[in-house]
Amino acid sequence: MSSPDRLPKASGTMTRRQLLGAIGAGMVPLPLNMAAQSDEAGPSTPSGVLLEPFVDPLPVPRLLLPVVANASSQHYRVTLSEFHQKLHRDLPPTTLWGFEGAMPGPTIVAERNRRVQVEWINKLPVRHRLATDHNIAGAGKGVPEVRTVIHLHGGHVASSSDGYPDDWITPGRHQTTIYPNRQPGASLWYHDHAMGITRLNAMMGLAGFYILRDATEQKLRLPSGEYDIPLVLQDRIFDPRGQLVYPVGPMTDAPWVPEFFGTQVLVNGRVWPYLEVEPRRYRFRFLNASNTRTYNLSLVPQQEIVQIGTDGGLLSAPVGRRQLLIVPGERIDVVVNFYGREGHRLVLVNDAPAPYPLGGGGPVPRWVIQFRVRRPLLRYPDRSEIPTKLMESSQLREDTAVKTRRHILQEMMRPGEIFQQILLNGKRFDDPITEDPLNGTTEIWEFVNPTMDAHPIHLHAVHFQLLDRRRFDMRRYRTNSEVVFTGSAMPGGPEERGWKDTIMCPPLQVTRIITPFHGEPGRFVWHCHMLEHEDNEMMRPYVLRG
Ligand code: C2O
Ligand code: CU
Repeated sequence: MSSPDRLPKASGTMTRRQLLGAIGAGMVPLPLNMAAQSDEAGPSTPSGVLLEPFVDPLPVPRLLLPVVANASSQHYRVTLSEFHQKLHRDLPPTTLWGFEGAMPGPTIVAERNRRVQVEWINKLPVRHRLATDHNIAGAGKGVPEVRTVIHLHGGHVASSSDGYPDDWITPGRHQTTIYPNRQPGASLWYHDHAMGITRLNAMMGLAGFYILRDATEQKLRLPSGEYDIPLVLQDRIFDPRGQLVYPVGPMTDAPWVPEFFGTQVLVNGRVWPYLEVEPRRYRFRFLNASNTRTYNLSLVPQQEIVQIGTDGGLLSAPVGRRQLLIVPGERIDVVVNFYGREGHRLVLVNDAPAPYPLGGGGPVPRWVIQFRVRRPLLRYPDRSEIPTKLMESSQLREDTAVKTRRHILQEMMRPGEIFQQILLNGKRFDDPITEDPLNGTTEIWEFVNPTMDAHPIHLHAVHFQLLDRRRFDMRRYRTNSEVVFTGSAMPGGPEERGWKDTIMCPPLQVTRIITPFHGEPGRFVWHCHMLEHEDNEMMRPYVLRG
Protein backbone atom coordinates (compact mmCIF):
# COMPACT_ATOMS: atom_id res chain seq x y z
CA MET A 1 0.00 0.00 0.00
CA SER A 2 2.84 2.38 0.71
CA SER A 3 4.56 1.44 -2.53
CA PRO A 4 5.59 4.41 -4.68
CA ASP A 5 3.95 2.51 -7.56
CA ARG A 6 0.85 4.32 -6.50
CA LEU A 7 2.27 7.58 -7.79
CA PRO A 8 -0.01 9.05 -10.39
CA LYS A 9 1.38 8.47 -13.88
CA ALA A 10 1.69 12.15 -14.67
CA SER A 11 4.03 12.77 -11.75
CA GLY A 12 5.95 15.36 -13.69
CA THR A 13 9.54 16.38 -13.58
CA MET A 14 10.66 14.51 -10.48
CA THR A 15 11.48 10.96 -11.54
CA ARG A 16 10.74 7.98 -9.38
CA ARG A 17 14.48 7.54 -8.81
CA GLN A 18 14.79 11.15 -7.64
CA LEU A 19 11.81 10.70 -5.40
CA LEU A 20 13.23 7.55 -3.86
CA GLY A 21 16.51 9.38 -3.33
CA ALA A 22 14.67 12.20 -1.64
CA ILE A 23 12.76 9.77 0.53
CA GLY A 24 16.06 8.15 1.55
CA ALA A 25 17.43 11.57 2.46
CA GLY A 26 14.39 12.14 4.65
CA MET A 27 13.21 14.99 2.49
CA VAL A 28 9.97 13.48 1.32
CA PRO A 29 7.26 12.31 3.65
CA LEU A 30 6.44 8.74 2.72
CA PRO A 31 2.87 7.96 1.84
CA LEU A 32 2.80 6.12 5.12
CA ASN A 33 0.56 3.21 5.77
CA MET A 34 -0.92 4.59 8.92
CA ALA A 35 -2.40 1.25 9.85
CA ALA A 36 1.10 0.02 10.52
CA GLN A 37 1.62 2.80 13.02
CA SER A 38 -1.63 3.24 14.79
CA ASP A 39 -3.67 0.66 16.56
CA GLU A 40 -6.82 2.74 16.45
CA ALA A 41 -6.59 3.44 12.77
CA GLY A 42 -7.52 -0.10 11.74
CA PRO A 43 -6.46 -2.10 8.74
CA SER A 44 -8.40 -0.14 6.15
CA THR A 45 -6.56 3.15 6.61
CA PRO A 46 -5.37 4.20 3.17
CA SER A 47 -2.06 5.82 2.43
CA GLY A 48 -2.81 7.95 -0.59
CA VAL A 49 -0.64 9.15 -3.44
CA LEU A 50 2.68 10.97 -3.26
CA LEU A 51 2.86 14.34 -4.99
CA GLU A 52 5.66 16.63 -6.06
CA PRO A 53 5.92 19.77 -3.94
CA PHE A 54 6.07 23.40 -5.06
CA VAL A 55 4.74 23.00 -8.60
CA ASP A 56 1.57 25.08 -8.19
CA PRO A 57 1.37 28.79 -7.39
CA LEU A 58 -0.42 29.68 -4.18
CA PRO A 59 -4.02 30.71 -4.81
CA VAL A 60 -5.33 33.61 -2.74
CA PRO A 61 -9.07 33.28 -2.07
CA ARG A 62 -11.02 35.99 -3.86
CA LEU A 63 -12.82 38.65 -1.85
CA LEU A 64 -16.57 38.21 -1.65
CA LEU A 65 -18.61 41.18 -2.86
CA PRO A 66 -21.69 42.20 -0.90
CA VAL A 67 -25.04 42.14 -2.68
CA VAL A 68 -26.11 45.27 -0.81
CA ALA A 69 -23.93 47.65 1.20
CA ASN A 70 -24.25 50.97 2.98
CA ALA A 71 -22.26 52.83 5.59
CA SER A 72 -23.58 50.78 8.49
CA SER A 73 -24.02 47.31 7.03
CA GLN A 74 -23.13 44.85 4.30
CA HIS A 75 -25.28 42.02 3.06
CA TYR A 76 -23.76 38.89 1.52
CA ARG A 77 -25.26 35.87 -0.13
CA VAL A 78 -23.20 32.66 -0.12
CA THR A 79 -24.09 29.38 -1.79
CA LEU A 80 -22.80 26.06 -0.51
CA SER A 81 -22.43 23.45 -3.24
CA GLU A 82 -20.49 20.50 -4.58
CA PHE A 83 -17.94 21.07 -7.36
CA HIS A 84 -14.63 19.82 -8.72
CA GLN A 85 -11.41 21.70 -8.17
CA LYS A 86 -7.81 20.99 -9.07
CA LEU A 87 -5.68 20.78 -5.93
CA HIS A 88 -2.35 19.85 -7.50
CA ARG A 89 -0.85 19.86 -11.00
CA ASP A 90 -0.71 16.06 -11.11
CA LEU A 91 -4.11 15.34 -9.59
CA PRO A 92 -7.35 15.12 -11.52
CA PRO A 93 -9.96 17.55 -10.14
CA THR A 94 -11.22 16.64 -6.67
CA THR A 95 -14.88 16.50 -5.68
CA LEU A 96 -15.30 19.07 -2.90
CA TRP A 97 -17.87 21.06 -1.00
CA GLY A 98 -17.38 24.76 -0.56
CA PHE A 99 -18.75 28.27 -0.78
CA GLU A 100 -19.42 30.06 -4.06
CA GLY A 101 -17.79 27.17 -5.90
CA ALA A 102 -14.43 27.47 -4.13
CA MET A 103 -12.45 25.68 -1.44
CA PRO A 104 -11.52 27.50 0.73
CA GLY A 105 -14.49 29.82 0.29
CA PRO A 106 -14.10 33.47 -0.73
CA THR A 107 -12.83 35.82 1.96
CA ILE A 108 -15.35 38.07 3.65
CA VAL A 109 -13.77 41.39 4.58
CA ALA A 110 -15.67 43.12 7.35
CA GLU A 111 -15.09 46.40 9.14
CA ARG A 112 -15.32 47.05 12.82
CA ASN A 113 -18.77 48.39 13.86
CA ARG A 114 -20.19 47.78 10.38
CA ARG A 115 -22.74 45.02 10.54
CA VAL A 116 -22.53 42.01 8.22
CA GLN A 117 -25.52 39.90 7.33
CA VAL A 118 -24.95 36.65 5.49
CA GLU A 119 -27.51 34.45 3.85
CA TRP A 120 -26.06 30.96 3.55
CA ILE A 121 -27.83 28.95 0.86
CA ASN A 122 -27.45 25.19 1.15
CA LYS A 123 -27.30 23.65 -2.33
CA LEU A 124 -25.27 20.63 -1.27
CA PRO A 125 -26.31 17.17 -2.52
CA VAL A 126 -28.58 15.09 -0.27
CA ARG A 127 -26.09 12.22 0.10
CA HIS A 128 -22.82 12.65 1.94
CA ARG A 129 -19.58 11.74 0.17
CA LEU A 130 -18.00 10.45 3.38
CA ALA A 131 -19.21 7.73 5.73
CA THR A 132 -21.51 8.98 8.48
CA ASP A 133 -21.28 7.19 11.82
CA HIS A 134 -24.87 6.75 12.96
CA ASN A 135 -23.80 5.87 16.52
CA ILE A 136 -22.67 9.43 17.02
CA ALA A 137 -24.97 11.85 18.84
CA GLY A 138 -27.05 13.87 16.43
CA ALA A 139 -26.10 11.74 13.41
CA GLY A 140 -28.53 8.87 13.88
CA LYS A 141 -30.34 7.12 11.05
CA GLY A 142 -33.40 9.31 11.63
CA VAL A 143 -31.78 12.64 10.67
CA PRO A 144 -31.02 13.84 7.14
CA GLU A 145 -27.59 12.72 5.98
CA VAL A 146 -26.45 16.12 4.69
CA ARG A 147 -26.91 18.96 7.14
CA THR A 148 -24.96 22.14 7.63
CA VAL A 149 -24.86 25.17 9.89
CA ILE A 150 -22.28 27.92 9.60
CA HIS A 151 -20.38 29.31 12.57
CA LEU A 152 -18.16 32.39 12.59
CA HIS A 153 -15.17 31.23 14.62
CA GLY A 154 -14.01 34.06 16.90
CA GLY A 155 -17.08 36.21 16.24
CA HIS A 156 -18.83 37.93 19.14
CA VAL A 157 -22.37 37.28 18.01
CA ALA A 158 -25.84 36.55 19.38
CA SER A 159 -26.79 32.95 19.98
CA SER A 160 -29.23 32.95 17.05
CA SER A 161 -26.38 33.78 14.64
CA ASP A 162 -23.73 31.57 16.20
CA GLY A 163 -24.51 28.38 14.30
CA TYR A 164 -25.59 26.16 17.18
CA PRO A 165 -24.75 22.54 16.16
CA ASP A 166 -28.41 21.46 16.27
CA ASP A 167 -29.58 24.43 14.18
CA TRP A 168 -28.57 22.76 10.92
CA ILE A 169 -30.34 23.19 7.63
CA THR A 170 -30.83 20.60 4.90
CA PRO A 171 -30.14 21.09 1.16
CA GLY A 172 -32.60 23.58 -0.30
CA ARG A 173 -32.75 25.71 2.88
CA HIS A 174 -31.18 29.01 3.97
CA GLN A 175 -29.54 30.17 7.19
CA THR A 176 -29.27 33.89 7.94
CA THR A 177 -26.65 35.20 10.34
CA ILE A 178 -25.88 38.68 11.64
CA TYR A 179 -22.37 39.63 12.69
CA PRO A 180 -22.23 42.98 14.54
CA ASN A 181 -18.40 43.23 14.31
CA ARG A 182 -18.18 45.12 17.59
CA GLN A 183 -14.77 43.67 18.44
CA PRO A 184 -11.16 44.48 17.52
CA GLY A 185 -9.84 43.67 14.04
CA ALA A 186 -8.85 40.00 13.77
CA SER A 187 -8.47 37.04 11.43
CA LEU A 188 -11.69 35.11 11.93
CA TRP A 189 -13.04 32.26 9.85
CA TYR A 190 -16.34 30.67 8.96
CA HIS A 191 -16.94 26.94 8.84
CA ASP A 192 -19.53 24.21 9.18
CA HIS A 193 -20.60 23.18 12.69
CA ALA A 194 -23.32 20.57 12.11
CA MET A 195 -23.93 18.14 14.97
CA GLY A 196 -22.11 14.83 14.56
CA ILE A 197 -20.69 15.46 11.05
CA THR A 198 -18.54 18.60 11.36
CA ARG A 199 -15.38 16.54 10.72
CA LEU A 200 -16.84 15.22 7.45
CA ASN A 201 -18.22 18.56 6.26
CA ALA A 202 -14.91 20.28 7.05
CA MET A 203 -12.98 17.51 5.27
CA MET A 204 -15.13 18.13 2.18
CA GLY A 205 -14.04 21.78 2.32
CA LEU A 206 -16.59 23.94 4.17
CA ALA A 207 -14.33 26.71 5.51
CA GLY A 208 -13.28 30.26 4.58
CA PHE A 209 -11.66 33.43 5.97
CA TYR A 210 -13.49 36.35 7.55
CA ILE A 211 -11.07 39.24 7.99
CA LEU A 212 -12.27 41.92 10.35
CA ARG A 213 -10.55 45.24 9.71
CA ASP A 214 -10.22 47.98 12.22
CA ALA A 215 -9.25 51.65 11.83
CA THR A 216 -6.71 51.63 14.66
CA GLU A 217 -4.95 48.70 13.05
CA GLN A 218 -4.98 50.40 9.67
CA LYS A 219 -3.08 53.35 11.11
CA LEU A 220 -0.15 51.08 11.93
CA ARG A 221 1.82 50.71 8.74
CA LEU A 222 1.74 46.93 8.67
CA PRO A 223 2.07 45.30 5.24
CA SER A 224 -1.32 45.59 3.55
CA GLY A 225 -3.16 45.07 0.29
CA GLU A 226 -1.50 42.44 -1.86
CA TYR A 227 1.18 42.07 0.84
CA ASP A 228 -1.34 40.88 3.44
CA ILE A 229 -2.08 37.24 2.60
CA PRO A 230 -4.23 34.73 4.47
CA LEU A 231 -2.83 31.18 4.54
CA VAL A 232 -5.12 28.33 5.55
CA LEU A 233 -3.47 24.99 6.33
CA GLN A 234 -5.41 21.74 5.79
CA ASP A 235 -4.04 18.21 5.48
CA ARG A 236 -5.60 15.64 3.19
CA ILE A 237 -5.16 12.17 1.67
CA PHE A 238 -5.87 11.59 -2.04
CA ASP A 239 -6.49 8.43 -4.01
CA PRO A 240 -4.87 8.14 -7.47
CA ARG A 241 -8.00 9.59 -9.06
CA GLY A 242 -7.55 12.74 -6.99
CA GLN A 243 -10.45 12.05 -4.67
CA LEU A 244 -10.39 12.66 -0.92
CA VAL A 245 -9.72 9.66 1.29
CA TYR A 246 -11.04 9.72 4.83
CA PRO A 247 -10.25 6.60 6.88
CA VAL A 248 -12.87 4.47 8.60
CA GLY A 249 -12.50 2.66 11.91
CA PRO A 250 -12.11 -1.11 12.31
CA MET A 251 -15.76 -1.70 13.16
CA THR A 252 -17.89 -1.71 10.03
CA ASP A 253 -20.97 -0.19 11.60
CA ALA A 254 -18.96 2.44 13.47
CA PRO A 255 -16.72 4.26 10.97
CA TRP A 256 -15.71 7.12 13.32
CA VAL A 257 -11.95 7.48 13.80
CA PRO A 258 -10.51 9.48 16.72
CA GLU A 259 -8.14 11.47 14.52
CA PHE A 260 -7.28 12.28 10.91
CA PHE A 261 -3.74 12.84 9.65
CA GLY A 262 -3.25 13.59 5.96
CA THR A 263 -0.17 12.87 3.89
CA GLN A 264 -0.18 16.23 2.08
CA VAL A 265 -0.63 19.79 3.29
CA LEU A 266 -2.83 22.18 1.35
CA VAL A 267 -2.36 25.92 1.63
CA ASN A 268 -5.36 27.89 0.38
CA GLY A 269 -6.57 24.73 -1.36
CA ARG A 270 -3.31 23.74 -3.15
CA VAL A 271 -0.96 20.92 -2.20
CA TRP A 272 2.44 22.32 -1.20
CA PRO A 273 2.24 25.48 -3.32
CA TYR A 274 4.87 28.13 -3.90
CA LEU A 275 4.52 31.89 -3.66
CA GLU A 276 6.66 34.39 -5.54
CA VAL A 277 7.40 37.24 -3.20
CA GLU A 278 9.19 40.55 -3.50
CA PRO A 279 12.17 41.31 -1.28
CA ARG A 280 10.07 43.19 1.27
CA ARG A 281 7.77 42.65 4.27
CA TYR A 282 4.66 40.51 4.02
CA ARG A 283 1.90 39.92 6.50
CA PHE A 284 0.70 36.30 6.60
CA ARG A 285 -2.41 35.28 8.49
CA PHE A 286 -2.04 31.60 9.35
CA LEU A 287 -5.13 29.57 10.08
CA ASN A 288 -4.96 25.91 11.03
CA ALA A 289 -8.21 24.54 9.60
CA SER A 290 -7.03 20.93 9.71
CA ASN A 291 -9.27 18.38 11.40
CA THR A 292 -6.71 17.09 13.92
CA ARG A 293 -3.20 18.13 12.97
CA THR A 294 -1.08 20.56 14.98
CA TYR A 295 1.78 22.17 13.03
CA ASN A 296 5.13 23.42 14.24
CA LEU A 297 6.27 25.76 11.49
CA SER A 298 9.67 27.22 10.70
CA LEU A 299 11.51 28.59 7.69
CA VAL A 300 14.42 26.82 5.99
CA PRO A 301 16.92 28.41 5.67
CA GLN A 302 16.19 29.81 9.07
CA GLN A 303 14.65 33.23 9.19
CA GLU A 304 12.91 35.17 11.88
CA ILE A 305 9.13 35.34 11.81
CA VAL A 306 7.61 38.23 13.73
CA GLN A 307 4.30 37.38 15.32
CA ILE A 308 1.96 40.36 15.52
CA GLY A 309 -1.41 38.80 16.21
CA THR A 310 -3.36 35.87 17.47
CA ASP A 311 -6.99 34.64 17.50
CA GLY A 312 -8.64 37.80 18.81
CA GLY A 313 -6.46 40.41 17.08
CA LEU A 314 -3.09 42.09 17.47
CA LEU A 315 -0.71 41.36 20.33
CA SER A 316 0.29 44.33 22.44
CA ALA A 317 3.83 44.09 21.01
CA PRO A 318 5.50 42.06 18.25
CA VAL A 319 7.28 38.84 19.21
CA GLY A 320 10.21 37.44 17.23
CA ARG A 321 9.86 33.70 16.70
CA ARG A 322 11.74 30.89 15.01
CA GLN A 323 8.89 28.42 15.25
CA LEU A 324 5.14 28.73 15.23
CA LEU A 325 3.11 26.08 16.98
CA ILE A 326 -0.46 26.23 15.71
CA VAL A 327 -3.27 23.97 16.91
CA PRO A 328 -6.51 23.27 15.01
CA GLY A 329 -8.78 26.32 14.96
CA GLU A 330 -6.02 28.74 15.97
CA ARG A 331 -4.78 31.78 14.02
CA ILE A 332 -1.33 33.36 14.07
CA ASP A 333 -0.64 36.64 12.27
CA VAL A 334 2.97 37.25 11.36
CA VAL A 335 5.25 39.52 9.36
CA VAL A 336 8.14 38.04 7.38
CA ASN A 337 10.75 40.29 5.80
CA PHE A 338 12.25 38.85 2.61
CA TYR A 339 14.55 41.84 2.13
CA GLY A 340 18.10 40.67 1.47
CA ARG A 341 16.93 37.24 0.33
CA GLU A 342 16.68 38.16 -3.36
CA GLY A 343 16.96 35.13 -5.62
CA HIS A 344 16.57 32.67 -2.74
CA ARG A 345 13.95 30.10 -1.94
CA LEU A 346 12.68 29.55 1.57
CA VAL A 347 10.55 26.61 2.58
CA LEU A 348 8.11 26.68 5.44
CA VAL A 349 8.39 23.26 7.07
CA ASN A 350 6.45 21.41 9.75
CA ASP A 351 7.86 19.01 12.32
CA ALA A 352 5.04 18.57 14.85
CA PRO A 353 4.53 14.91 15.79
CA ALA A 354 1.12 13.42 14.99
CA PRO A 355 -0.79 13.22 17.21
CA TYR A 356 0.71 16.16 19.06
CA PRO A 357 2.84 16.01 21.14
CA LEU A 358 3.62 12.30 21.46
CA GLY A 359 3.53 11.23 17.82
CA GLY A 360 3.56 7.70 16.49
CA GLY A 361 0.01 7.85 15.16
CA GLY A 362 0.27 9.28 11.68
CA PRO A 363 2.43 10.69 8.90
CA VAL A 364 4.15 14.04 9.39
CA PRO A 365 4.28 15.91 6.08
CA ARG A 366 7.34 18.11 6.28
CA TRP A 367 6.54 20.74 3.67
CA VAL A 368 3.97 23.48 3.77
CA ILE A 369 4.82 26.23 1.27
CA GLN A 370 7.84 27.55 -0.62
CA PHE A 371 8.60 31.26 -0.92
CA ARG A 372 10.55 32.32 -4.03
CA VAL A 373 12.09 35.71 -3.51
CA ARG A 374 12.30 37.61 -6.77
CA ARG A 375 15.25 39.78 -7.75
CA PRO A 376 14.90 43.40 -6.70
CA LEU A 377 11.86 44.75 -8.37
CA LEU A 378 10.16 46.86 -5.75
CA ARG A 379 7.38 48.29 -7.79
CA TYR A 380 6.92 50.43 -4.73
CA PRO A 381 9.46 50.92 -1.96
CA ASP A 382 8.49 48.98 1.13
CA ARG A 383 7.03 51.61 3.42
CA SER A 384 5.56 49.09 5.81
CA GLU A 385 6.88 48.71 9.32
CA ILE A 386 6.36 46.73 12.47
CA PRO A 387 5.62 49.22 15.24
CA THR A 388 7.06 48.35 18.63
CA LYS A 389 3.61 48.83 20.15
CA LEU A 390 0.67 47.22 18.36
CA MET A 391 -2.32 47.42 20.64
CA GLU A 392 -3.35 48.77 24.02
CA SER A 393 -4.03 45.78 26.21
CA SER A 394 -3.45 44.57 29.71
CA GLN A 395 -3.50 41.25 31.50
CA LEU A 396 -6.66 40.48 33.42
CA ARG A 397 -6.17 40.09 37.15
CA GLU A 398 -7.22 36.79 38.68
CA ASP A 399 -9.12 38.53 41.46
CA THR A 400 -11.56 39.99 38.93
CA ALA A 401 -13.00 36.49 38.42
CA VAL A 402 -16.21 35.68 40.26
CA LYS A 403 -15.99 31.95 39.70
CA THR A 404 -13.51 29.18 38.90
CA ARG A 405 -14.67 26.09 37.05
CA ARG A 406 -12.55 22.98 36.71
CA HIS A 407 -13.07 20.86 33.62
CA ILE A 408 -11.71 17.37 32.95
CA LEU A 409 -10.84 16.29 29.41
CA GLN A 410 -11.57 12.59 29.22
CA GLU A 411 -10.96 9.87 26.68
CA MET A 412 -13.39 6.98 27.15
CA MET A 413 -12.10 3.61 26.00
CA ARG A 414 -13.87 0.44 24.96
CA PRO A 415 -12.44 -2.87 26.15
CA GLY A 416 -9.39 -3.61 24.01
CA GLU A 417 -8.20 0.01 24.20
CA ILE A 418 -10.39 1.18 21.35
CA PHE A 419 -11.54 4.78 21.52
CA GLN A 420 -15.17 5.16 22.19
CA GLN A 421 -15.66 8.82 22.95
CA ILE A 422 -13.89 11.86 24.23
CA LEU A 423 -15.88 13.87 26.73
CA LEU A 424 -15.75 17.03 28.78
CA ASN A 425 -16.36 16.33 32.46
CA GLY A 426 -17.68 12.89 31.55
CA LYS A 427 -20.80 14.53 30.12
CA ARG A 428 -22.44 14.08 26.77
CA PHE A 429 -23.59 16.99 24.64
CA ASP A 430 -27.25 16.57 25.52
CA ASP A 431 -26.72 16.30 29.27
CA PRO A 432 -28.15 19.27 31.21
CA ILE A 433 -26.19 22.51 30.95
CA THR A 434 -23.58 22.86 33.68
CA GLU A 435 -21.73 26.00 32.51
CA ASP A 436 -23.83 29.12 32.99
CA PRO A 437 -21.68 32.25 33.38
CA LEU A 438 -23.52 35.46 34.21
CA ASN A 439 -23.26 38.08 31.49
CA GLY A 440 -20.88 40.84 32.48
CA THR A 441 -18.77 38.71 34.80
CA THR A 442 -15.33 37.18 34.50
CA GLU A 443 -14.55 33.52 35.17
CA ILE A 444 -11.48 31.31 35.37
CA TRP A 445 -11.75 27.96 33.63
CA GLU A 446 -9.22 25.22 34.31
CA PHE A 447 -8.74 22.37 31.86
CA VAL A 448 -7.30 19.25 33.47
CA ASN A 449 -5.83 17.03 30.76
CA PRO A 450 -5.06 13.49 31.91
CA THR A 451 -4.92 12.22 28.28
CA MET A 452 -1.88 11.86 26.02
CA ASP A 453 -3.16 14.34 23.40
CA ALA A 454 -2.92 18.12 23.47
CA HIS A 455 -6.53 19.28 23.01
CA PRO A 456 -7.26 22.72 21.49
CA ILE A 457 -10.17 24.02 23.56
CA HIS A 458 -12.37 26.66 21.94
CA LEU A 459 -15.06 28.86 23.48
CA HIS A 460 -17.69 30.48 21.30
CA ALA A 461 -18.68 34.16 21.45
CA VAL A 462 -15.81 35.34 23.70
CA HIS A 463 -12.07 35.85 23.85
CA PHE A 464 -9.96 34.99 26.85
CA GLN A 465 -6.42 35.18 28.18
CA LEU A 466 -4.15 32.34 29.17
CA LEU A 467 -3.25 32.47 32.86
CA ASP A 468 -0.85 29.56 33.14
CA ARG A 469 -0.20 25.85 32.75
CA ARG A 470 0.89 23.51 35.50
CA ARG A 471 1.89 19.85 35.65
CA PHE A 472 0.08 17.45 37.94
CA ASP A 473 0.78 14.00 39.32
CA MET A 474 -0.79 11.47 36.99
CA ARG A 475 -0.46 8.57 39.40
CA ARG A 476 -2.35 10.41 42.12
CA TYR A 477 -4.94 11.40 39.56
CA ARG A 478 -5.43 7.78 38.40
CA THR A 479 -5.79 6.53 41.95
CA ASN A 480 -8.35 8.99 43.29
CA SER A 481 -9.00 11.65 40.60
CA GLU A 482 -7.14 14.15 42.76
CA VAL A 483 -5.20 16.94 41.04
CA VAL A 484 -1.89 17.35 42.86
CA PHE A 485 0.51 19.79 41.23
CA THR A 486 4.08 18.65 40.76
CA GLY A 487 5.60 21.89 39.53
CA SER A 488 5.08 25.59 39.59
CA ALA A 489 2.67 27.42 37.33
CA MET A 490 4.17 28.26 33.93
CA PRO A 491 2.90 31.42 32.27
CA GLY A 492 2.43 31.28 28.49
CA GLY A 493 5.07 32.81 26.25
CA PRO A 494 4.66 36.41 25.04
CA GLU A 495 3.03 35.05 21.86
CA GLU A 496 0.21 33.60 23.95
CA ARG A 497 -0.42 36.81 25.84
CA GLY A 498 -3.02 38.17 23.43
CA TRP A 499 -6.75 37.51 23.22
CA LYS A 500 -7.37 33.85 22.46
CA ASP A 501 -10.44 31.84 21.52
CA THR A 502 -8.66 28.50 21.08
CA ILE A 503 -6.04 27.32 23.55
CA MET A 504 -3.71 24.35 23.52
CA CYS A 505 -4.14 22.18 26.61
CA PRO A 506 -1.08 19.90 26.80
CA PRO A 507 -1.19 16.41 28.33
CA LEU A 508 -0.70 15.98 32.08
CA GLN A 509 -1.11 19.70 32.71
CA VAL A 510 -3.83 21.98 33.96
CA THR A 511 -4.31 24.92 31.59
CA ARG A 512 -6.04 27.96 33.11
CA ILE A 513 -7.77 30.73 31.19
CA ILE A 514 -9.58 33.88 32.33
CA THR A 515 -12.63 34.94 30.33
CA PRO A 516 -14.75 38.07 30.50
CA PHE A 517 -18.23 36.93 29.45
CA HIS A 518 -19.72 40.00 27.80
CA GLY A 519 -22.29 39.57 25.11
CA GLU A 520 -25.86 38.85 24.36
CA PRO A 521 -27.31 36.24 26.70
CA GLY A 522 -28.08 32.95 25.05
CA ARG A 523 -26.85 29.43 24.40
CA PHE A 524 -23.41 28.73 22.93
CA VAL A 525 -20.90 25.87 22.90
CA TRP A 526 -17.36 25.16 23.99
CA HIS A 527 -15.41 22.22 22.62
CA CYS A 528 -12.20 20.61 21.49
CA HIS A 529 -11.31 21.82 17.99
CA MET A 530 -9.94 18.47 16.90
CA LEU A 531 -13.03 17.81 14.83
CA GLU A 532 -13.08 14.06 15.37
CA HIS A 533 -13.18 14.77 19.11
CA GLU A 534 -15.76 17.54 18.79
CA ASP A 535 -18.09 15.23 16.85
CA ASN A 536 -17.87 12.41 19.42
CA GLU A 537 -18.71 14.33 21.92
CA MET A 538 -15.96 16.58 23.20
CA MET A 539 -18.37 19.50 23.04
CA ARG A 540 -20.69 21.00 25.62
CA PRO A 541 -23.28 23.76 25.59
CA TYR A 542 -22.93 26.78 27.84
CA VAL A 543 -25.46 29.42 28.68
CA LEU A 544 -24.65 33.08 29.02
CA ARG A 545 -27.16 34.17 31.66
CA GLY A 546 -28.66 37.63 31.35
CU1 C2O B 1 -14.15 26.76 14.87
CU2 C2O B 1 -17.04 25.73 17.49
O1 C2O B 1 -15.59 26.22 16.12
CU1 CU C 1 -9.62 16.83 21.73
